[in-house]
Amino acid sequence: MAQQNFTLIKPDDWHLHLRDGDALRTTVPHTARCFERAVIMPNLKPPVVKVSDALVYRERILQSVPEGATFSPLMTLYLTDNLPEDELRLLADEPHVVAVKYYPAGATTNSDSGVTSIEKVMPALEIMATLGIPLLMHGEVTDHEVDIFDREKHFIDQILCPLRANLPELKIVLEHITTRQAVEFVSGENEQVGATITVHHLLFNRNDMLASGVKPHFYCLPILKRDIHQSALIDAATSGNPSFFLGTDSAPHALGDKESDCGCAGIYTAPAAIELYAEVFEQVGALDKLENFASQFGPRFYGLDTNTETIQLTRSEWRMPAHFEFGNSTVVPVRAGERLSWRLRGGTT
Ligand code: NCD
Ligand code: ZN
Repeated sequence: MAQQNFTLIKPDDWHLHLRDGDALRTTVPHTARCFERAVIMPNLKPPVVKVSDALVYRERILQSVPEGATFSPLMTLYLTDNLPEDELRLLADEPHVVAVKYYPAGATTNSDSGVTSIEKVMPALEIMATLGIPLLMHGEVTDHEVDIFDREKHFIDQILCPLRANLPELKIVLEHITTRQAVEFVSGENEQVGATITVHHLLFNRNDMLASGVKPHFYCLPILKRDIHQSALIDAATSGNPSFFLGTDSAPHALGDKESDCGCAGIYTAPAAIELYAEVFEQVGALDKLENFASQFGPRFYGLDTNTETIQLTRSEWRMPAHFEFGNSTVVPVRAGERLSWRLRGGTT
């Protein structure tokens, strides 16, 4: 008989967008219900570029943690062409701020202030390497002539390989990987390089977004790829290789910003993230590999302790709501209105 319950060390989400203001009232509880820690992305408007701003943002997040829940946001700074050295030194001494996020300018949501060329940020990256600060990279080139489905591969060839050669001491996370080439790249590197894998890139491929009508709620960046890449990601996530760990990239947008002439990128997976990872791992007979991927390999990469609490998942069907409140609007979650097979014990989605 198929397994009915399983317990795992409380997981962490190593890549998350919570947004700000009223939105935090719903986004924070969705993550805090099962994750102990989450790396919070800094792509607010304006972006989070100072340690002091990251800490104030962290306090706003903590105000929305439900009574009785424990949740520790791990903050990040947004790398611009001129992030001052002083901020990096402050970051290195501040345990609540753990990394710097690299967005190529124009690559994704609120990335206008991002890096315009890797040369411009080499001085900052050199300091980060010395201070042991990880660089979290959105790995896509932005050149208009490069096909959107090839942008991750080009980034690896043009930016990442030379960067690894020039600055091997820098710790790098290639965020939300989406291609076989990214899996191969990370697998060939040493322990200085890790990668997060989202649940939507494990569950879906571009057919889900495009094959029977355009589905804006499947639109995210990096964009969903073809099924061979999806299979490579599933293999990597369930391989037991500690370089691959959980990062949802849950990225809520108001319904009207998704269902629009020029819709925003981002899939809201937080309301069922761990349940959906369990579904994927179970489908390939690898439920026993989930704990390492979700709860062990991330802290190991960041040099942090593993959580001491546990969570329990039970096989029990439930239906994802069609939408959730999101500030003064609503957000449509992944699998809206559909059935899910795993339920978090004590969960309240
Ligand atoms: C993210 C967002 O909306 O902030 N969107 C997404 O599709 N992943 C930005 C990002 O991580 O690229
Ligand atoms: Zn993201």
